[in-house]
Amino acid sequence: MNDYEFRKILDHFSYSWSGYRKVRKGVKKRLTHHMVQLDCGTVDGYLDLMARSLPLRHEFYRIMSVPISRFFRDKAMWQMLVQDILPCLLSEKEVRVWFTGCASGEEVYTFQICWDTFKGQHKGVPELRAVASDLNPYYIRRALDGIYTETSLKEMPYDFMASCFLGIRGRKYAVKESLKKRILWVVHDNLKGPLVRGCHILFIRNSLLTYYREEIKVPILENILEGVVPDGYVIIGGHERIPDSITGLRSGVCHPCVYQKI
Ligand SMILES: C[S@@+](CC[C@H](N)C(=O)[O-])C[C@H]1O[C@@H](n2cnc3c(N)ncnc32)[C@H](O)[C@@H]1O
Repeated sequence: MNDYEFRKILDHFSYSWSGYRKVRKGVKKRLTHHMVQLDCGTVDGYLDLMARSLPLRHEFYRIMSVPISRFFRDKAMWQMLVQDILPCLLSEKEVRVWFTGCASGEEVYTFQICWDTFKGQHKGVPELRAVASDLNPYYIRRALDGIYTETSLKEMPYDFMASCFLGIRGRKYAVKESLKKRILWVVHDNLKGPLVRGCHILFIRNSLLTYYREEIKVPILENILEGVVPDGYVIIGGHERIPDSITGLRSGVCHPCVYQKI
């Protein structure tokens, strides 16, 4: 598949070229494989098939999902979370956190590690209710297994390695069972709106804002933000920005990736 054909598919579904440009090799390979399976020789024919079949479209969305993630991605943000954000939530009865586009769970387990660190430093820490969702059921299964290679762990602070992982065969690492508690894993498409209501922290990193075009991400983000409480925190990826037309968020809250709902 050449770039012209790939861009035709992106345009048709309002995906962003700038989001997919660097990762297009793998995505194009999966798309080509899908077209061969369906015995479909042209992109127009493929788009036509997608328009006519919901199950095939679901398969297509899974093909388009890019699972790149790492533990402690954007390290400074995680330090700030423990030092500045979590203390502001101490007076809540329960802290609700939603991870949208969680891929294979690296971000979710990173939060769990931070939450345990925070609990070790403070008394009277509220209960945690964490919901982690992704469009792709395969990634959710991998998150539940909690087994990672060294690539996912390259930003992991060394001190946490022994307490959080068990080394297993083939240079793989399994998340300890204690970190798997308090998380509800759900297959959910962000384009369908908020899955969690009354959320105190929303992680929406490196998914909606990166891979979709403005006309999709603005209404979807507005919709998802309805699930966040006033003054609740919204955390985006290090290379992302909130579209200018979103007015319900305050920026400059202790870190460039952190916003607060007005
Ligand atoms: C690059 S990963 C980001 C993982 C993690 N949030 C991080 O920042 O490390 C993007 C994830 O977003 C998911 N995703 C993409 N579109 C989605 C949608 N419409 N609804 C839910 N998840 C979606 C993909 O399946 C993929 O697992």
